[in-house]
Amino acid sequence: MASISPEDHFLHRSGRELNPAVDYIHSMTKTPPNGSDTTADDRRTTTRDPSTAGIENRLETEGDPESGGGLEYEVVTTPVLVVGAGAAGARVAIELAESGLEPLVIGKREHGDAHTTWAAGGVNAALGSLDPDDDWTVHAADTLNEGHHLNDPDAVELTAREMPDRIRELVEWGMSFDRTADGDINQRYFGAQSYRRTCFVGDRTGEAMLETLIGRARDLEIPYRENVMITRLLSDGERVDGAVGFDMETGDGLLFRTNHVVLAAGGFSALYHRHSSRDDENNGDGQALALEAGARLLDLEFVQFHPTGMVGERYGEEWDGRLVTEAVRGEGGRLYNAEGERFMERYSPDQMELDARDVVARAIAREVREGRGTDDGGVYLDISHRDAEYVRERLPSMVERFESLGVDITAEPMTVAPTAHYTMGGVDIDFRTGETGVDGLYAVGETVAGVHGANRLGGNSLAETVAIGKLVGDHVASAVAVGDDDPTVTDGQRAMAEREFRALADLAASDGTVPPTRILEALGDLLWDHAGILRDEPGLRDGLATLAELRERTADLRVDGGLTSKSFEYAVDLSASLTVAEAMLRAALERTESRGAHYRTDYPETDADWRVNLVLSAGTEGLSITRRGVAEPSPAVREALEEGYELDYHHLE
Ligand code: FUM
Repeated sequence: MASISPEDHFLHRSGRELNPAVDYIHSMTKTPPNGSDTTADDRRTTTRDPSTAGIENRLETEGDPESGGGLEYEVVTTPVLVVGAGAAGARVAIELAESGLEPLVIGKREHGDAHTTWAAGGVNAALGSLDPDDDWTVHAADTLNEGHHLNDPDAVELTAREMPDRIRELVEWGMSFDRTADGDINQRYFGAQSYRRTCFVGDRTGEAMLETLIGRARDLEIPYRENVMITRLLSDGERVDGAVGFDMETGDGLLFRTNHVVLAAGGFSALYHRHSSRDDENNGDGQALALEAGARLLDLEFVQFHPTGMVGERYGEEWDGRLVTEAVRGEGGRLYNAEGERFMERYSPDQMELDARDVVARAIAREVREGRGTDDGGVYLDISHRDAEYVRERLPSMVERFESLGVDITAEPMTVAPTAHYTMGGVDIDFRTGETGVDGLYAVGETVAGVHGANRLGGNSLAETVAIGKLVGDHVASAVAVGDDDPTVTDGQRAMAEREFRALADLAASDGTVPPTRILEALGDLLWDHAGILRDEPGLRDGLATLAELRERTADLRVDGGLTSKSFEYAVDLSASLTVAEAMLRAALERTESRGAHYRTDYPETDADWRVNLVLSAGTEGLSITRRGVAEPSPAVREALEEGYELDYHHLE
């Protein structure tokens, strides 16, 4: 398969004299990143004892702050470092704690402030509360169909099988799912699902799930450290021996001594100009850290555009792109164009508004492009035909949010347009273990690829976090060996960390003229325009050329306010964001077909020969992209696929 030449790939360093900022930003992608610093002798050779007996769990800061590389830094020891504190990270940590370990969870924000809270409408589990014919095989078949058969069937089956138990467990831990009159967990329709399978807490399911997981983590006294950003993993390309970052409140460096790092840092949808996540989250740092450490990325071209993001002047800029949950359509919401036509009848007469997200998003984009959209560039989403009390009960957050903006959704429509919501691509892992192929490095949640294939079923992101999170936590616990509570950090690794601290201090002192936000905004526009809902080769090539220009502009970066400033955080983000954006553009260029969320106007058909995953790795020759065949589902799931289950929308009428 294609191998991108060193001349044109994203690791290429320009021949120009670079200022410290651009040096930092380019150095993020050096490969192997840290290899030159670590000799074979430096690497840990401890034989791992599968038993965790005798492990003294501890989290400690070692003595007074040290100084080196231009920053004061703290050394923190932990048997397992979990990077990211959303549902996936929390569920991994709970499993570790229940195995008797004391992991350290770190997050960039305050505890409870994670992207999980924006998955509002529900979590899938084949409980059959309302549709007793549903079972895990149909859930798996729906997931594979929606993923256009690029999913890892094992990951899909694990998720679908695990979910009923994970829901029961969440209930035990205090999650108050909405109930039917008979006291069963209620389930609603969500797009492209054959049965009502989406369990919910009104329209704040992600928030309720995260509260529950955090409550459980607190009961287990799992240590959590806020406001920490990891900027580099200590890796020789074959094994990870720790991580380096900084405390965003104090600006002090942090060196984590650990033999096990779990990346649960989210996806990269916020790189897009219009997105449903918070602006400063989901910017690809997990994927960039993994790639730099020697792991592979998979299927980065698949970015999910949720059909219904808020749009329009009356909501104000701060709400642009924010999610209007699929639960609105699941509860009967209808889409109309500016001419009053219920246009989904033309695109999908059977599944209507509850067809797959990519189908509905493309339909809306087409209505707008062909002049049938609203003045704001959207369409109308209306649920006012339903009883107002019902709407208030099922969609309380939506009612409240729109009310605060002067809109009564029980009586009038909302204006919506597609928004970047989720990234199906990510780190390539083994789903039974979370292993990335780099010893000691694991990944989970939206950071990884595999469960969702070319497109994701709504309600499956929350499902993946707890189903796979438990399995990964369980495996990492079994991999922790005697001695992992006091891991070795070699002189070479310490030198590597101190070089990173020096680079961060230099970056903070950048005194050029271009603020990092200007480059991030330009990147957002570039991706929206060139790698959005519709793509083609000239657009993707233009996108890559513009991205190269943006990279050049980092030579003139200006950071205002030093190490604790937002400006510095954005400057650090730039490094990961440019890396992941470029890898994504290259993967989108490579895949010359349309499938799921990846729609190439120059290759509008799905091509059976392209039923392969695209594997990206960074080597000395630059970024390489290879194809890998996809495994077949089990006979039970094949049977469900052959049955041809499909949502019957007209149940809702
Ligand atoms: O529309 C929603 O509530 C989103 C849910 C999801 O992405 O799973």
